[in-house]
Amino acid sequence: MQKDKIMILYNSKTGFTQTYAELLAAKLDCAALPLKDAPADLSQYDVVAFGSRLHAGMLDGWKKARKLLAQRSAKKLVLFATGAMPNEAEAQIQKVWEQNLTPEEQKTIPHFYLQAGLCYEKMGGVDRAMMKFAAWAMTRKKSKTEEDEAFRNAIRQSYDISDPKYIEPVVTCLKQES
Ligand SMILES: Cc1cc2nc3c(=O)[nH]c(=O)nc-3n(C[C@H](O)[C@H](O)[C@H](O)COP(=O)(O)O)c2cc1C
Repeated sequence: MQKDKIMILYNSKTGFTQTYAELLAAKLDCAALPLKDAPADLSQYDVVAFGSRLHAGMLDGWKKARKLLAQRSAKKLVLFATGAMPNEAEAQIQKVWEQNLTPEEQKTIPHFYLQAGLCYEKMGGVDRAMMKFAAWAMTRKKSKTEEDEAFRNAIRQSYDISDPKYIEPVVTCLKQES
């Protein structure tokens, strides 16, 4: 495969998305850069991948990235989201895509979810407070489902459920698109 066919851009606060972006770049022999360092002209790339964390159900920075990628003439796009949910939480993940992408984007932009984890040590103060609030809100919830209980237990501490193997579908897709 030729170089410079693919560009990987990412936003990452605690490192999970950056790690996945760098694994993709190593596998595909291309660059991975933070979105803020995106080249001014993206038209030379066959495909641009954008990865970010999920943040209260939203793909963090996607609104800004969507604009920037269009302004800088990115051709084809591929998205990947990282989060604390396991890959098996298919219904919740589907809901996330419906919340973040227009129906047209859902059809035309390949999008992937990669399970990652939580890292309180690297989290900012606002994020830590938001997690504390989420845990508190869960204790207050009257009829808790098994999933609610699992979520409440899971977010008590940092955990890492990421794995390099999860990039494989993204790698295949980026190869096909480039
Ligand atoms: C305030 C806050 C809200 C979050 N909301 C979600 C969420 O809605 N769904 C999810 O799966 N993960 C959620 N997470 C977990 C992050 O998406 C996860 O840790 C992500 O991999 C972090 O990526 P980064 O290390 O690249 O910053 C949230 C984390 C924080 C701190």
